Amino acid sequence: MYIAFEGIEGSGKSVQIDILKNFFEKKGLKYIITKEPGSTDIGTEIRKILLNGSFTNMGHLTEIFLYLADRAEHYDKIIKPNLNKVDVIISDRSLYSTLVYQGFGRGIDMNLLIQLNGIVTENIFPDYVFLIDLPVEIGLERALKREETSKNNQDRFEKERIDFHYKIREGYQFFYKNSKDWFIFDGKKSIEDISSEIEKTIEKLLCQR
Ligand code: TMP
Repeated sequence: MYIAFEGIEGSGKSVQIDILKNFFEKKGLKYIITKEPGSTDIGTEIRKILLNGSFTNMGHLTEIFLYLADRAEHYDKIIKPNLNKVDVIISDRSLYSTLVYQGFGRGIDMNLLIQLNGIVTENIFPDYVFLIDLPVEIGLERALKREETSKNNQDRFEKERIDFHYKIREGYQFFYKNSKDWFIFDGKKSIEDISSEIEKTIEKLLCQR
């Protein structure tokens, strides 16, 4: 079972994915936790370019092809070899981030993005998407605090204007409303409440298989 976590900046995906490790260990499930961009050696380098806060003038096509190159490596080295080997693959972001950030956010043609992603993924898509939904203002404030405590600079996406982030949230909500395999979690709830909802959903999905 391949589950992708999606959400705006600061939505709490990484915290929830971290908590899931314990859950999988307790249940004795074989799992892989991975992310896009940056899960492979080459992807790690691509991620540095993509998030570099000084590349504010990166062209839209450059951005798309860098995400696709990262995804090609991710599928080749991690997703495809493990699909039938483990019980659960959890990925922090997926092709849906491209459809939302580059499609809804940058206004790139959705059919083109779907076509390009089909090539890169060989039409292997996440079975389920877990969307952690959060108002943009709260997400950005959390992301800013995180950067302050880790003494990191704001990345290229955190530097985007607020309208960009509104489009991202709307894009995610569009997919949730129009797809049966998407589940939504309210990012305003406590970390514990969200993780217990996530765990219950995964248990249900595992039972159905
Ligand atoms: P993150 O690791 O904090 O999620 O950062 C990755 C950033 O890259 C985030 O701002 C979302 C963005 N992104 C895209 O724009 N397109 C994509 O396809 C992916 C995977 C991420």
